[in-house]
Amino acid sequence: MKAIELRNKYLKFFEKHGHKIIPSSPLVPENDPSVLFTTAGMQPLIPYLLGETHPAGKRLTDYQKCLRTDDIEDVGDTGHLTYFEMMGNWSLGDYFKEESIKMSYEFLTTELNIPVERIFVTCFEGDNDCPRDIEAAKVWEKCGIAPERIFFFGKKENWWGPAGTHGPCGPDTEIFYDTGKEKCCKTCNPSCGCGKYLEIWNNVFMQYNKTVDGKYEELKQKNVDTGLGLERATMILQGKNNVFEIEIFKPILEELEKFSSNHDMKSFRIILDHLRASIMLVQDGVRPGNIEQGYILRRLLRRTIRHFKKIGIDIVNLEKIVDNYIDILGELYPELTENKVKIKNVIEEEKNKFIKTLANGEREFNKALVKAQNSNENIIDGQVVFNLYETYGFPPEITSELAKEQGFEVDLNKFNELYKQHQEKSRAGAEQKFKGRFSRKE
Ligand code: SER
Repeated sequence: MKAIELRNKYLKFFEKHGHKIIPSSPLVPENDPSVLFTTAGMQPLIPYLLGETHPAGKRLTDYQKCLRTDDIEDVGDTGHLTYFEMMGNWSLGDYFKEESIKMSYEFLTTELNIPVERIFVTCFEGDNDCPRDIEAAKVWEKCGIAPERIFFFGKKENWWGPAGTHGPCGPDTEIFYDTGKEKCCKTCNPSCGCGKYLEIWNNVFMQYNKTVDGKYEELKQKNVDTGLGLERATMILQGKNNVFEIEIFKPILEELEKFSSNHDMKSFRIILDHLRASIMLVQDGVRPGNIEQGYILRRLLRRTIRHFKKIGIDIVNLEKIVDNYIDILGELYPELTENKVKIKNVIEEEKNKFIKTLANGEREFNKALVKAQNSNENIIDGQVVFNLYETYGFPPEITSELAKEQGFEVDLNKFNELYKQHQEKSRAGAEQKFKGRFSRKE
């Protein structure tokens, strides 16, 4: 099953069960300046989970564009993605545990035809804030999940939220798919990261509000918030053990392999992930820059370009690859096709800016590397990281990555210090200028 088919099945199924399909919110939250990006399907719904009336009703479903950058260092393995799509269904004080679990079970076993023996689940084991979730486990048993396939864990595994420091949250029940691989050890279970069990869906029973002082208060209403990652679920349904093998990525991966003179799977995956995230960000109005969302986009694009170079692909091929990528992604997001020229131009412009300084920056880095080697140090001075940032436009993680590839570390503390000083100086300079202009006007 292709990703688009899975998404359509999902939305139709929940529509049939009385849910209104609502549109995805943009990647940059519209009314929440406290966060840079939408990181979960529930984020745009926070006011409604807290009790406000949603115009579309109490049962909602959608697919939400999400971006998470906290795991950016892990991109390059078989599953981590910065941009991903999360499908979800919500009950805003309507159904609760029983109906939520039963619908998930029905969707997995009858719509997706997943054999029940492949399904394992986990529930919240209970603590001082919230009791053990016997109720969820009982519903699972009623559905036909044998007790030995139901596990209980604490907050680390079976609690979701709040999305920031405070807000709606609650115990969850997570659904895992057993890949059929051998257990990695006697105690191997769904909480183990060995890859035997893959998390496919998370049903959160949002009945608490975490306050700013860390207390859990009962919410006015009992909500359900579920999240099913589109790419990961597609991978599982296609029997792949690597998300980059699904049809969203595969043709671009093959193209990279064809053009590249130095096959490096990690670089391929970083490019596949970062380029897709960049396309989606530009579509949602973000432009490369030096602060906030713009700086994240700049970093994603510059890292992509660096990895192009690393695997020996001529950078002129970027344009064609972006073109093909937009065509593929256009099946899921038709708005991309409409904005193709605009998106390509933004990416090309940033590429042109960065390639001017990339080679010189790499030369500077190599000089610093030799210096560190000669003085028997295994750390690159933070001043070098700062100069590369300031003069050559190298985001610090690019320098850090270059260093790691040679077995070196970088002094990020010193970089951060210098960066802060620089910010303060520019702020003072700007204030000075402003004052000057003001007095001239007077
Ligand atoms: N909020 C939960 C998650 O992000 C379920 O949607 O996993």
